[in-house]
Amino acid sequence: MNFESAASVKTASGNYDIFVHDQAIENVGEICRALDIGNHAFIITDTEINKIFGEQLVSILSQAGYTTKLYAINAGEDQKNLETVEHLYNWLLKNHVERSDFVICLGGGVVTDLGGYVAATTLRGIPFLHVPTTLLGMVDAAIGGKTGVDHQLGKNLIGAFAQPAAVVSDPQLLSTLPIRQIRDGLAELIKHGLILDKDLVDLLEKSSSNLRSLIEPHFIAKSSSIKAGIVSADERESSKRMLLNYGHTVGHAIEACTGYQTYRHGEAVAVGMHIAGKISHQLGLLSEEELNRQQHLITSCGLPSEASDVYLDDVLKTMRSDKKMYQGTLSWILLNGIGNAIISRNVSEATFRSAAETILG
Ligand code: GLY
Repeated sequence: MNFESAASVKTASGNYDIFVHDQAIENVGEICRALDIGNHAFIITDTEINKIFGEQLVSILSQAGYTTKLYAINAGEDQKNLETVEHLYNWLLKNHVERSDFVICLGGGVVTDLGGYVAATTLRGIPFLHVPTTLLGMVDAAIGGKTGVDHQLGKNLIGAFAQPAAVVSDPQLLSTLPIRQIRDGLAELIKHGLILDKDLVDLLEKSSSNLRSLIEPHFIAKSSSIKAGIVSADERESSKRMLLNYGHTVGHAIEACTGYQTYRHGEAVAVGMHIAGKISHQLGLLSEEELNRQQHLITSCGLPSEASDVYLDDVLKTMRSDKKMYQGTLSWILLNGIGNAIISRNVSEATFRSAAETILG
């Protein structure tokens, strides 16, 4: 292959490369050949993505000598459930899928989470590749092997860790994405800098006046490589991977309290990062200047700094029922300076209330 991988993930359950470059979608066939993973490709996508990129991917794979079948689930978060999984099992099995075949998940986080889970559990596991089509997918969902679906009792409660055989991110696929969806991914990209890489924060600050410049390949590659490093160090989220939850303790609760309708994931996480940043400041870990720096970057990307329509008490109650509870205590990810996140289980309710009272309702 005459292009380099941007990052590699190395875990006990699999090693793989993340490719990030313009026109990377054109190389999917070549990448599959290099991986030597069978002759028949089952593409899982959604109805919206299929209209834009489905035919192109089928043609790229055909040119590389693969036979293909494609299934487009209905687009939307509400499709990430066991009923859709069942439809996909039926489709794969009726088409006589074999372990020597492979799945390609073409889409955003719903498709990669769900498609990865289907691939991981059909015939006890067939290889799969991710071709993410959103920024959030490229820098977060497609990397790290968290696959699964929602259950009526909560988000992402059914699933498995299963690593893809490769992630192929083509920033040009983002050119038609609405700006609100770009911001969704930017929250995670900024988070990667805040938790582990001060240089990335410096670079983002320099470019933040032009949001589209933040989705250039080098930013996506850098962010992907931060996530790849974390997953390689801690695949199962027992230590370092928890740092990725910066802003998520509150963010998930805001999403849940508003029925997943008002705030996109990245927007809720942005508000969550404000509260976690303020807690870090109150505990003497983050200077006022650093907190202002974080907030300036977040808001200059058009992400919110408050959610005054969401009640603080509701958020607190929801956080306490979240899966980030560990032995009855909430885990907080705080910043001990920009680029240096830590895990804390010592944030009192009073500290949370005082940090959140001007940010939540
Ligand atoms: N999205 C957080 C993680 O992959 O651990």
